[in-house]
Amino acid sequence: MLKERLGEYTNVINEALDKYIEVNKDYDEELKKAMKYSLMAGGKRLRPALILEGYRLFKPNYLEAVPFACAMEMVHTFSLIHDDLPAIDNDDLRRGKPTNHKVFGENTAILAGDALQNYAYQIVSEELVKGNNTENKAKAFNIFATAVGDMIKGEFIDISFEGKKINLDELHIMHENKTGALIKASLLMGAVLAGASENELKILINYADKIGVNFQIKDDILSEIGDEKILGKPIGNDKLRGKCTFVTVLGIHKAKEELDIGTKEAIKVIETLDKNVQFFKELALFIKERDN
Ligand code: IPE
Ligand code: IPE
Ligand code: MG
Ligand code: MG
Repeated sequence: MLKERLGEYTNVINEALDKYIEVNKDYDEELKKAMKYSLMAGGKRLRPALILEGYRLFKPNYLEAVPFACAMEMVHTFSLIHDDLPAIDNDDLRRGKPTNHKVFGENTAILAGDALQNYAYQIVSEELVKGNNTENKAKAFNIFATAVGDMIKGEFIDISFEGKKINLDELHIMHENKTGALIKASLLMGAVLAGASENELKILINYADKIGVNFQIKDDILSEIGDEKILGKPIGNDKLRGKCTFVTVLGIHKAKEELDIGTKEAIKVIETLDKNVQFFKELALFIKERDN
């Protein structure tokens, strides 16, 4: 079920993203080219899928959530472009292609990231002024903007701890922010837009907290022992740069143990929601087992 749904969502999102970029008249063609280069380079589209499936848990026609899902993917892509910059992780490969700054230069890459972030907010604000389902849309906007701030905070924790010692609690906080925040916000935005209750949201928050951290633990594992061709980004750089990750701090064995525990917990939590949660159970396992 997960594969089919992810495939469906990827098609919907890719088509919508392509349109958003094409209709935008605000940017110079070269800047648009740089934005599109990273945006359409073939990411997994996990965050938008969470928005659409989070919505679908409560309401079948998820089209209303598509602009929010596109905005989230734009911000995620902006975070990747900036994360790869020489001043941050200095990586050369992303989504199987040379990183944005390698192709367009650092100055354009910085601005392409900025432009994607701003366009995301513009798209969400356009939804807000349409005047229907306004309260839920405003709540989703607030969740979104707050999570983007948390992601930036997490990226700052990441660079602050380079070459230093971090304890397990700090490691969890870093992962919750730099990666968990956007993943969690995605699921919540979908559910909030579709009118989920406070109790339902509590369960989703608990589940999303766990898969968000699990996702980054797996990212840490793949950064160490993944296959660069399948992963589409470089292997072995975390250790080289003195990064604090679950693998560099705890070792691969303990990192896998943490991921195992986190996966079981996530499944247990989502089973308490009285809805069809098959997608989310399979997703927790996919996050643990993925190879890219
Ligand atoms: C990579 O995210 C960066 C992290 C936050 C760990 P993804 O693994 O979702 O990257 P794409 O979108 O598929 O390229
Ligand atoms: C990326 O974290 C997190 C964000 C971009 C917010 P990492 O630096 O660990 O992820 P990769 O391995 O470059 O994708
Ligand atoms: Mg990084
Ligand atoms: Mg990185």
